[in-house]
Amino acid sequence: MFENDKKIAADEAIKYVKSNMKIGLGTGSTTKFFLDNLGELIKDGEIKNITGVPTSKKTEEIARSYGIKIDNNLDNIEIDFDGADECDIYGNLIKGGGGALVREKIVAYNSKDVYIMVDESKFSEKLHNFPLPVEVIPFMEDITKKNIEKLGCKCSFRDNKNFISDNGNYIIDCRFNYTDVKYEEEIKMLPGVVEVGIFKNIATKIFEGKNNKCNTISIRKL
Ligand code: 5RP
Repeated sequence: MFENDKKIAADEAIKYVKSNMKIGLGTGSTTKFFLDNLGELIKDGEIKNITGVPTSKKTEEIARSYGIKIDNNLDNIEIDFDGADECDIYGNLIKGGGGALVREKIVAYNSKDVYIMVDESKFSEKLHNFPLPVEVIPFMEDITKKNIEKLGCKCSFRDNKNFISDNGNYIIDCRFNYTDVKYEEEIKMLPGVVEVGIFKNIATKIFEGKNNKCNTISIRKL
């Protein structure tokens, strides 16, 4: 479902990649379309010398297979390319559906631009569709979950604690009626919380694949 719209968004985003760039490489099925495009361009010699900062072990593996140089130094990342689970017109994002929110947030916050590729189902007026992923340390995690629930959401451990992030942590998925961006700070303050999947006003462009076309939305940083 929406696979074609994800591909359309990735096909537009790839136009912004030029030889010799250092870019952030997101995680997920939409980013995979982007990486496949990049791999083809590298193979055909149309783009050369790309350095990528990957946001997950999976993305690193794919990037290496396409001849992208891997660098985990966060200096001078020109554009971070990633997907999102939900986004709004202000460039606020919910991320972490693939469990890579910690590294995704570090890379996004250290990139000059953040280009997000989505299909139309991800775009919302108010963030409310996708449960908010929160990464927590595997120590007294049930107490951490109860503390998050005090903010008025229903929480569940992803895959009953069988899902472990690349950092060795659990993910708690939190269902609010509406995910106000203020919860980023409130949840992050709780002991045991590593990162919250709210990325506030971070996207500088959103590529939305919709009805076989791509809408490109440029967003001003507040
Ligand atoms: C991973 C993410 C992904 O960007 C998000 O889940 C979107 O994934 P997909 O492109 O597969 O729909 O945040 O942690």
